[in-house]
Amino acid sequence: MNFKIPDKKDLAYFTSLLGEVNVIIDDRKENFAHDETEDLVFMPEVVLIPENSKQVSDILKYCNGQYIAVTPRGAGTGLSGGALPVHGGVLLSMHKFNKIISIDENNLQITVEPGVITQVLQEAVIEKGLYYPPDPSSRGSCFIGGNLAECAGGPRAVKYGVTKDYVLNCEIVLANGEIIWTGANVLKNSTGYNLTQLIIGSEGTLGVITQIVLKLIPYPPQTIVMLVPFADAENACKAVAAIFKAGIIPSALEFMERDAIDWTLQFRNDIVLTITDEEKAHLLIEVDGTDMDVLRQTCEKIAVVTEQFNCLNIYYAESADEKAALWKLRRSVAEAVKSNSVYKEEDTVVPRYYLPDLLKGVKEIGNKYGFKSVCYGHAGDGNLHVNIIKGDLDDKTWNEELPKGIREIFELCIKLGGTLSGEHGIGYVQKDYMDIAFNQTQLNLMKDIKKVFDPRGILNPGKIFID
Ligand code: LAC
Ligand code: ZN
Repeated sequence: MNFKIPDKKDLAYFTSLLGEVNVIIDDRKENFAHDETEDLVFMPEVVLIPENSKQVSDILKYCNGQYIAVTPRGAGTGLSGGALPVHGGVLLSMHKFNKIISIDENNLQITVEPGVITQVLQEAVIEKGLYYPPDPSSRGSCFIGGNLAECAGGPRAVKYGVTKDYVLNCEIVLANGEIIWTGANVLKNSTGYNLTQLIIGSEGTLGVITQIVLKLIPYPPQTIVMLVPFADAENACKAVAAIFKAGIIPSALEFMERDAIDWTLQFRNDIVLTITDEEKAHLLIEVDGTDMDVLRQTCEKIAVVTEQFNCLNIYYAESADEKAALWKLRRSVAEAVKSNSVYKEEDTVVPRYYLPDLLKGVKEIGNKYGFKSVCYGHAGDGNLHVNIIKGDLDDKTWNEELPKGIREIFELCIKLGGTLSGEHGIGYVQKDYMDIAFNQTQLNLMKDIKKVFDPRGILNPGKIFID
């Protein structure tokens, strides 16, 4: 792909459209050259900061005509490189699309722009007794638009579903500049193809999201959080499916192996938690609802199940501070690992009963290729984040041998009935592995869809598929 590098004339056009302050060509571009994926950096030629759909439309129409690559970007918290401008060109930052347009308390819906921070959205609806459950660990900084682009999940997906389960409709700008709505603001819709769901998880390759209508539910005000330790990680994983089999759906069921907790406690010295030597893995379990007595009974049932898998002493958090500390711990794992070593994060997912097989297989593959991994994640969803640590591995092994090991991990996921990514997307870093999950017919169907939406391939090139 030989995209045009924006020249003086192009920059003059962008400036006439957006004003000088919204066209960045100096050192500040560096802030937009990376996301949270590994240590990858790709410099765009220019950063454009639109603030309405019409401006996005004009930019895309122009770039499509000139054959200039356009990479849309939310908050840059992604873990698969979706927002990296790998072909340079225009980086389209959506951070000025930060308005909550309306909260419809009659229909339990919210209409927002894509640059609203997910937690800001959540807090705005909680004030009205309403709930938007999807809660990626980065919810304090990620944008809802990025959540749609990657179909983000988070701990509460296990009971409430992921981003796609809440999007009713969205406004997008197509590569040729046309502005369309993808569906209707209704809870049921069997009218033609589902364009809304096609856009979710499409990682900015099919259109630029400029407005979103989300479904809300009533807010469950009560929670109890349990931290359940185990002397071995396999038993912790085995307990997961048994909890559901016992008829319980927790609002979160997270797994952390010992290193994940240790590294995070070192990284965040504001969390006080005593972990004994024999504790090798933990399940962090939350139940929610409206009645504390019911929640306590549910926790007792969970304790009965986990005891069958030889859990150690369970810690119950009921006060707001205790619960917040446990969640802070869990939500900081990714950052803690990142601060510790160069690493690669795989977002593996399998049907939850096979989680123990996945964990065991990951460790065996690690032994074979000589790498250490720190594993944690959304056990209730069978979604294990495998963080492969560079540590002392030399660059040759890291760059040439490791991909073979990652391939084996993904092959194992497929064998177990799972797939490559549960919630982080394919983006730039997993595209080489797509052939493991899809055959040529399936890949061609996807590529043909891309061509229909974006015939010239200017939107987020270099993502999902090998160029
Ligand atoms: C988490 C992010 C990394 O689960 O998905 O913390
Ligand atoms: Zn996660």
